[in-house]
Amino acid sequence: MKPEDMRRDLPITQQYIYFDNAATTPVPSPVIDATIEYFEEYCANVERGAYSIAAKASDVCDAAREEIATNLLHCDVEEFIFTRNQTQAANHVAYALEHQFLNRWSTGFKFAPPLVKWTTESKILTTLLEHHSNFLPWMRLAKHVNAQFQTIPPTMEGRLTPDMFAEAVDEHTKLVAFQHASNAMGTKHDVPAIIRTIKSANPSCLVFIDGAQGAGHLPLNVKALGCDFYSFSGHKGPLGPPGTGGLYVRDELLRRMAPTEVGGGVIATVTADDYMLRSDHRARRWDAGTPNIIGLIALGAAVKYLNRIGVERVAAHEQKLTKHLLEGIRDIPNVIVYGPKEDMTWKVGAVCFNINGWISHDVSLALDSQWKILTRAGHHCCQPLMRLLAVLDQYNGNVRSSFHYYNLIEEVDTLIEAIKTLAA
Ligand SMILES: Cc1ncc(COP(=O)(O)O)c(C=O)c1O
Repeated sequence: MKPEDMRRDLPITQQYIYFDNAATTPVPSPVIDATIEYFEEYCANVERGAYSIAAKASDVCDAAREEIATNLLHCDVEEFIFTRNQTQAANHVAYALEHQFLNRWSTGFKFAPPLVKWTTESKILTTLLEHHSNFLPWMRLAKHVNAQFQTIPPTMEGRLTPDMFAEAVDEHTKLVAFQHASNAMGTKHDVPAIIRTIKSANPSCLVFIDGAQGAGHLPLNVKALGCDFYSFSGHKGPLGPPGTGGLYVRDELLRRMAPTEVGGGVIATVTADDYMLRSDHRARRWDAGTPNIIGLIALGAAVKYLNRIGVERVAAHEQKLTKHLLEGIRDIPNVIVYGPKEDMTWKVGAVCFNINGWISHDVSLALDSQWKILTRAGHHCCQPLMRLLAVLDQYNGNVRSSFHYYNLIEEVDTLIEAIKTLAA
């Protein structure tokens, strides 16, 4: 499939130059069609009904889970928890690191040993490059368990390197949380090398990856990364709808991990005094109540669609657009570009910039009203980073142009000309 073919499935591309894919990506029509089919042909709740369309709804949802686990994350389906978004995935893990797993065992109803034994010396480490959704859950957890909360500053180009982690991790570090790629600097990181560094400094330290800007944009195999947890949003790179996302948890941890909520759908048995959580599909212990059936069906269809393109081609195309934009704007007087400007090795499909004398939101408004170019402006939910870059007072953050496979070089050219006009 070529970018031009994909555009036929995205009517919004006829009207706008949509460059806000890091916030959410438009949903291709075959993915929407899969949800219409559910509403029109087999609209029933899952896992509870004996009749035929209920069985079909359950089968389609099961197949969607398989598709996402196998063809997006490359893990076992029992290691994939379906979530509302990346934010919920991080909060599930933070909850489980604070609460012990309670269940009925052959020896009675009791707590399992905690995933982490917290002491006042314990440390939780993250970075100043993170989105608030990969920052606040850990800051709050540290406060709740009385652990130390530590942060690593990135380079001013938005890079994280193994050395930074080698210096920061010690025997007291219980959790390290960092991102696959940055939504505010457009950089990606050498995740396997960083994880090897962390684990060699402290083999029992858990590693959580925020893959909101990785999944669907970059080749991904959570096992090869070596992480304990990988979280993502379904509505960004993977081309699914808002309200979808996921969490990979290494099997051994997932078995002992406390679900955030309990209720219908998560148990094998319930008595007047206790319950036993289901062990047939352990990852569904996080699906208390009716799951987001439509979202699951759509995300499964979206992953299929994405794999018709091939995520390697998505990554290569986005890099091509990024390089073209950077070459077109880096030397324009009055334009400040954030992140690497020439070396594409650690760059993904997002470019952030400011124009001297302009508040970032005004640039974004002008691009929309004069050229129908849709970009995002502001702090991008990365206030600690924006403080580090010192861009809040002068620009109120920065402007971000972010791509997916259907975006065209000609669209980037329009943006380059628009920026030249505004900066003149
Ligand atoms: C790097 C990063 N992490 C986390 C998130 C949170 O994603 P969501 O709002 O889908 O939970 C975002 C959203 O933009 C992001 O870019």
